[in-house]
Amino acid sequence: MIHPTPSPRSPRRSTVKKSARDRRPETQTPTTPRPSTRTAKSSIAALRAEAAHCRACPLYKNATQTVFGAGRTTARIVFVGEQPGDREDLTGKPFVGPAGQLLDRALQQAGVDRAATYVTNAVKHFKFEPRGKRRIHKKPNEQEISACHRWLDQELHAIEPELIVALGATAARAVFGKATAIGKNRGHVISKPPLGTDIEADVLVTVHPSYLLRVPDADRDAAFAEFVADLELARKYAPADS
Ligand code: URA
Repeated sequence: MIHPTPSPRSPRRSTVKKSARDRRPETQTPTTPRPSTRTAKSSIAALRAEAAHCRACPLYKNATQTVFGAGRTTARIVFVGEQPGDREDLTGKPFVGPAGQLLDRALQQAGVDRAATYVTNAVKHFKFEPRGKRRIHKKPNEQEISACHRWLDQELHAIEPELIVALGATAARAVFGKATAIGKNRGHVISKPPLGTDIEADVLVTVHPSYLLRVPDADRDAAFAEFVADLELARKYAPADS
């Protein structure tokens, strides 16, 4: 079946998602390159600068800095994680610590070029509990996820991805606006689900890479392979522009 070639995106690109979905076959063939969008780039830069001063919840008090999303501002795929960890808090970049390295390895195996995607988090400040010299990760609560949602929402508006990949339960909670089970929703793309905002995108839910660091040794390879399979699905669904 021949799928129609979509017209290039306008800077706001508000109508594109419908045609993108219409043309999308189960196994993707490369589509027309998206134009580089100065608007998206400057919106993200402005949001990043604004978010650096965010005081919408108390997490800013102990964190080193706001860790905003990073990557291609015209990405077809946006990955959403939970919150920055220790390493991310210190460097100001998402997914650069142990979970990020695991994500990188899985992306590589799945043939996804991270540089062509945008990677962000549901919560943009590191939440932790000091224990001696260590800072132990603490899960963000509902209020913190809600307080931070304005940033995720605006990132998604600026980028208008075709596919959002929610990594783990906190990300799924933020993306869908309600608790969403990972186990029974993973493994397939959910077409244009209600997202609790006016964002229109398809969503793939999968595990958080740090889950893979915690599974028992005997199950780790299988769990990693399943994660890679989810990422392969994302690649086929929304292939990157070259
Ligand atoms: N875990 C996340 O969810 N995000 C990061 O950026 C790092 C670890």
